[in-house]
Amino acid sequence: MSRSGSDIDLATEVAPEVVLLRGFAATTAEYAAAVDAVAAAAPFRHLQTPAGRPMSAAMTNCGTLGWHSDAKGYRYERNDPLSGRPWPSMPLIFLDLAQRAAYKVGYRDFLPDACLINRYAGKAKMGAHRDADERDFSQPIVSVTLGASATFLWYGPLRSGPAVKIRLEPSDVLVWGRTARRGYHAVGQAEGAAAGAVRFNLTFRKAG
Ligand code: SIN
Ligand code: FE2
Repeated sequence: MSRSGSDIDLATEVAPEVVLLRGFAATTAEYAAAVDAVAAAAPFRHLQTPAGRPMSAAMTNCGTLGWHSDAKGYRYERNDPLSGRPWPSMPLIFLDLAQRAAYKVGYRDFLPDACLINRYAGKAKMGAHRDADERDFSQPIVSVTLGASATFLWYGPLRSGPAVKIRLEPSDVLVWGRTARRGYHAVGQAEGAAAGAVRFNLTFRKAG
């Protein structure tokens, strides 16, 4: 794949240990095609929270582990509970993207085993939470925006804020780790959702 542009992107620390790589995921058509291929094997679905409420963002996964939620709680699963089969393997262009982004921010040995894919359509958004179901908190979260833009809120150690607001545009990559690894964050609706725009987010983690 083309690497053009990826090494000249600006890295901006938007909060301590939260780094925005503007435009880093440049070849979005290839990533979108890979999302489609994953979704053909493991369709997007609306998971239930442990309290029984449907999540507004639709989700699927690729990699050896996939994030799942139901009445039994939040966890990673080796098989897609919908099909009973292993999750689709992580496309090489995803692994390459995640590792290059992590490397740029100083994580030299990031080896993600999970990629959660979120799809935000209509009024879908995600409330404040932290990514805390993984085993290895020495590894960062690498988060990629495709499709539409949205406002991302970074709260940091306290769910109650104050939040840093970041407008994430397609191709932007956000990396958080170290002291920020368990920071609270949220994301708003996709811009243009009322007119049909859809945002996809890839979240790479070392979960197992
Ligand atoms: C997430 O926190 O899992 C998703 C964040 C995003 O969609 O940008
Ligand atoms: Fe998250």
